[in-house]
Amino acid sequence: MSKRILTGDTPTGKLHIGHYVGTLANRVKLQNEYETFIILADLHAFTTKVDKPDEIAESTLQVAMDNLAAGLDPAKATIFVESGIPEIYELAAIFSMLVSHNRILRNPTIKDEIVSKGLGDQFSMGLLNYPLFQVADILGVKGTLVPVGVDQLPHLELTNEVVRRFNSMYGNVFDEIEGLVGEVPKLVGTDGSPKMGKSLGNCIYLSDDEETVREKIMGMYTDPNRIHPTDPGKVEGNPVFIYHDAFNPNKEEVADLKARYEKGTVGDVEVKQKLFVAMNGFLTPIRERRKEYEKNPDLVKKILSEGTQKAREVVQGVLVEVKQAMKLTF
Ligand code: TRP
Repeated sequence: MSKRILTGDTPTGKLHIGHYVGTLANRVKLQNEYETFIILADLHAFTTKVDKPDEIAESTLQVAMDNLAAGLDPAKATIFVESGIPEIYELAAIFSMLVSHNRILRNPTIKDEIVSKGLGDQFSMGLLNYPLFQVADILGVKGTLVPVGVDQLPHLELTNEVVRRFNSMYGNVFDEIEGLVGEVPKLVGTDGSPKMGKSLGNCIYLSDDEETVREKIMGMYTDPNRIHPTDPGKVEGNPVFIYHDAFNPNKEEVADLKARYEKGTVGDVEVKQKLFVAMNGFLTPIRERRKEYEKNPDLVKKILSEGTQKAREVVQGVLVEVKQAMKLTF
């Protein structure tokens, strides 16, 4: 069986450094080994932004550019748009026969979304359906490896449940999939809250300019109990050091800063300044690649339309297999 990656993003805003360590780094690294498909799940975005079509359309372009800027090579990876492949909806409708309503309600990602967005009982059918769309996104191209952030794992479990049910009832069409979580499965926000999230205002975006990144880093939360630079500080769980570990390639410098921090011989300002230099070094090539695509939005649109056409052919083939297995062949 070929090794195929399928993963993607919901275009509800630009991607940040948490997305990078959670999934983008793996996409970029593995695109040479795996046939790689990246989905921009624009229909998905309507589950939370139903009244914002302009914003979703704009985010779809921005997120495509984030992926390209991060280093996905359109000659290797197929980047495509969910809404351009109606066969995905067809597959989702078919898979909905195999999953109980209760099973979806127990999905922790769905529960979180309902609670964090304060939806109460006013969530749409679309929100409940979206895990099945995600299953269809993955199985539609017969992805085998799915690099994701840790919050997406419940959807991957559901995908394998669908695979097993489908195969046991209609014959072996799908292989079980594997998830792949990045080195930092969930990056804390600049304010130290457990998750970096757009609505929390604690993100560093891949597209942030140098000055913005400097301000965000100099304003970061550190050890709340440390008042003076001469107080011994705590490194563990300290967001500034979590970022140093994730983004500073100079491990000696990080080890030295940690040792001095714990002794109380380095100030927060120096730790942050060095983090800024490291972060900027990481973001500069990403920014430069992004600039090229920003200058040429038509090129980005072309990449998406060609990618969508290519992915669509793959999904159409899978749908034929599914329908044959289910004797839906009239
Ligand atoms: N739901 C994912 C997110 O919000 C994005 C996504 C859509 C996805 N379809 C997918 C991820 C299929 C992996 C596989 O991040």
